[in-house]
Amino acid sequence: MNVELVTFGKKYLKNSRLWMNDKEICRLFNRVYKPLSAVQQKKWYANLIKDSTQLIKAIEVNGTYVGNVGLKNIDYLNNKAEFYILIGAKNYWSKGIGTISTKKFLIYIKNKLPLHKIYLHVNQSNLRAIKLYQKTNFKKEGALKDELFRENKYITMIRMAYFITP
Ligand SMILES: CC(C)(COP(=O)(O)OP(=O)(O)OC[C@H]1O[C@@H](n2cnc3c(N)ncnc32)[C@H](O)[C@@H]1OP(=O)(O)O)[C@@H](O)C(=O)NCCC(=O)NCCS
Repeated sequence: MNVELVTFGKKYLKNSRLWMNDKEICRLFNRVYKPLSAVQQKKWYANLIKDSTQLIKAIEVNGTYVGNVGLKNIDYLNNKAEFYILIGAKNYWSKGIGTISTKKFLIYIKNKLPLHKIYLHVNQSNLRAIKLYQKTNFKKEGALKDELFRENKYITMIRMAYFITP
């Protein structure tokens, strides 16, 4: 299995939008479900290209586009950024692709960006994601109790961090 991180481009927008509009994926990301239109996505993409606080890579497995991995809120004052990953093609879940992609992405940013701390927030019930983060050396920093209110329930978010050492 050849997992590659490649430059995100227009050709990925169609599948990316399908995944963003999937209710299960939306729930795993704790988003309020609100379909993203092609027009909204085009605006998002136009902003992304010129936004220095974001970085996104497409994940390809043997040439098939399966997901995205990236950083948002890149902050060069404090040398930190927020990590996210999505394997949108569900038939590729739990095959080790998230782990390989995360490891490769962390090496890439270590070589490319002067960042010290990579942090993330994950729903405490998202056990697959938490397992992936533990396997890739993110450490728990704390729990944000009842941080979000979704579908009539409070959600506790776990905050984790990975430190880039020289
Ligand atoms: C979370 C996600 C990125 C993980 O990627 P993946 O390729 O599926 O994960 P991997 O196969 O590399 O690793 C997952 C690990 O969790 C384990 N796992 C799967 N389901 C699990 C569960 N219900 N409870 C505990 N562990 C579980 C797997 O066995 C595997 O561990 P192992 O390699 O020791 O066997 C991917 O599933 C995804 O994109 N999900 C939807 C979006 C999402 O949740 N993103 C994260 C938001 S914070």
